[in-house]
Amino acid sequence: MTQDELKQAVARAARDYVADRLPIGGILGVGTGSTANFFIDEIAAIKDRLGGTVASSEVTAQRLRGHGIRVLDLNDVDAMGIYVDGADEIDASMAMVKGGGGALTREKIVAAVAETFVCICDASKRVPVMGRFPLPVEVIPMSRAHVGRELAKLGGTPKLRDGFVTDNGNLILDVHGLSITDPVGLEDRINQIVGVVTNGLFARRGADVLLLATEDGVRTFSR
Ligand code: 5RP
Repeated sequence: MTQDELKQAVARAARDYVADRLPIGGILGVGTGSTANFFIDEIAAIKDRLGGTVASSEVTAQRLRGHGIRVLDLNDVDAMGIYVDGADEIDASMAMVKGGGGALTREKIVAAVAETFVCICDASKRVPVMGRFPLPVEVIPMSRAHVGRELAKLGGTPKLRDGFVTDNGNLILDVHGLSITDPVGLEDRINQIVGVVTNGLFARRGADVLLLATEDGVRTFSR
């Protein structure tokens, strides 16, 4: 199977998961990225069951609207049953590195509101120790150099994501060379650096369910 076929398979499984578990009229959080895009295309078929969606990025909001799917402001939502999103890496504790698409801050906010975070990815994303994928850190522009020096003290090599501005008007530093053996501790330490908006470690609020696309079918893991 190609990687796109795996993404398509897991997107379909996530659509079925939502159709089975989200009450009719419930609110669905929708993530960002190529796997999330397949998912958006799949949920067009069940849009009439949804009370609405909350998008984790402008690009996701546009794609949802393109399918005629209602997009709500998170501030107008009291509760969200399920949030479905991809990941760049996920470990056995269901901690993730996210933000390859630069939407990490909004993703973390939506994830904080959701009752159940469903991570969808192909088997290549499941790793014993995270860090091979550079860890994205969103920073306030004037703090870029300061945050970079502090990240270097933690053992990483930060690189500015060239020409990229987040939906929130900020910059991304991609931190290379980390071996993330303590995801919760590192998430907390990076959050302490002044000028950091969010880091791409989703360890304190990891996934509750993982739908993993493999050559043998989609496997389900729960926390
Ligand atoms: C975007 C993300 C994505 O979920 C992550 O980058 C995975 O993307 P893809 O499904 O394209 O591999 O965190 O900010």
